[in-house]
Amino acid sequence: MSRARTLKVGIVGLGRLGRRHAENLMSRVAGAELVAACSPLPAELEWARAMFQVQLQVPHLYADYGALLAHDGLDAVFLVTPTSLHPQQIIQALQAGKHVFCEKPLSLDLEDCRRVSAEAARHPQLKVMIGFVRRFDASYQDAYKKIQQGAIGAPFMVYSQTCDQYDPDGFFVKFAATSGGIFLDCSVHDIDLARWLLGNPQAVRVYAGGTRAIHQDLQQFQDVDNGVAICEFDNGKIATFYASRTMAHGHDTMTEITGTAGRLTVGSNPRKNRVEIADVHGVRNECLPSFFERFEDAFLTEVSTFVDAIRREQKLELTLDDATEATRIGIALRESLLSGQAVLL
Ligand SMILES: NC(=O)c1ccc[n+]([C@@H]2O[C@H](COP(=O)([O-])OP(=O)(O)OC[C@H]3O[C@@H](n4cnc5c(N)ncnc54)[C@H](O)[C@@H]3O)[C@@H](O)[C@H]2O)c1
Repeated sequence: MSRARTLKVGIVGLGRLGRRHAENLMSRVAGAELVAACSPLPAELEWARAMFQVQLQVPHLYADYGALLAHDGLDAVFLVTPTSLHPQQIIQALQAGKHVFCEKPLSLDLEDCRRVSAEAARHPQLKVMIGFVRRFDASYQDAYKKIQQGAIGAPFMVYSQTCDQYDPDGFFVKFAATSGGIFLDCSVHDIDLARWLLGNPQAVRVYAGGTRAIHQDLQQFQDVDNGVAICEFDNGKIATFYASRTMAHGHDTMTEITGTAGRLTVGSNPRKNRVEIADVHGVRNECLPSFFERFEDAFLTEVSTFVDAIRREQKLELTLDDATEATRIGIALRESLLSGQAVLL
């Protein structure tokens, strides 16, 4: 492939996040052209048909993933499908000679992660990236660079939280059937951040607990709506995580990194914008409603980074080993939640 050729990409999964990726790929990612979409649901394909027509393109829509992979000239696929499908769909794409971007987490099963890595190793010319979107957020990137430059001395502790605004419809209860639970679904982002910001240490022991503050019906999936965890690493570094589905005020994702000479905090106030309201209740700001708004730019940067790496034949910093390690720690957190015991890794 010549270095600067436009990539022809197909999107698989047109649900909550798939549509966002599709809209970005349609018009906002330089060097990529969305040429095909796949979903087993006719209503989602209808949405895609309308969207393609807005851009005056011929829609190539597939209900079957194998048929999309056979689409003539396709270079890469974007998998935005239920997590349980990720490993097999990545492997199929690699075997069909396609580059793969896949949403997080890589899998809920460690053996599956290893099967994906083994298949990827058989296709070194193909790129695979798992969507840990926070690494591509401008503030997290800045924090990372400052740590590299020694701004806080030696970083030794991360506190990181992923807290969603409460959704009275309980979308996340239905989602819990396939998401792997709150730690593998939400804290997996914080796990990846902690490893990245602390210089990729190995996790050695975790302890997790949780509660069902509002949604007792999560019990059927052995899940909680608020979970906390501690993770100890081999070099003495530590991380603590908090994940919640029940925030009253908005989507509240933040991270604090403490070092021997200082501390960095990313996103301590999940403000919607720079407006402050001062009235009889005091001084306050409105908050971001969801991760879509908080990470809107990061979703675009993430996809552009992947596309550029393919077109310019550059190495991706975010690897399958990173994604496997995030799953390994996430599984241990879930085990600890269920057993009430610390888990050694
Ligand atoms: N990076 C983030 O912050 C973030 C946020 C939300 C979701 N996610 C991840 O994105 C993935 C999808 O989540 P979602 O919220 O969009 O879920 P969703 O249920 O809204 O969408 C899933 C999509 O997959 C499609 N699908 C199901 N089976 C399929 C098959 N066999 N072949 C092709 N398509 C199939 C469905 O039709 C649907 O379009 C999950 O892995 C989730 O963890 C990541």
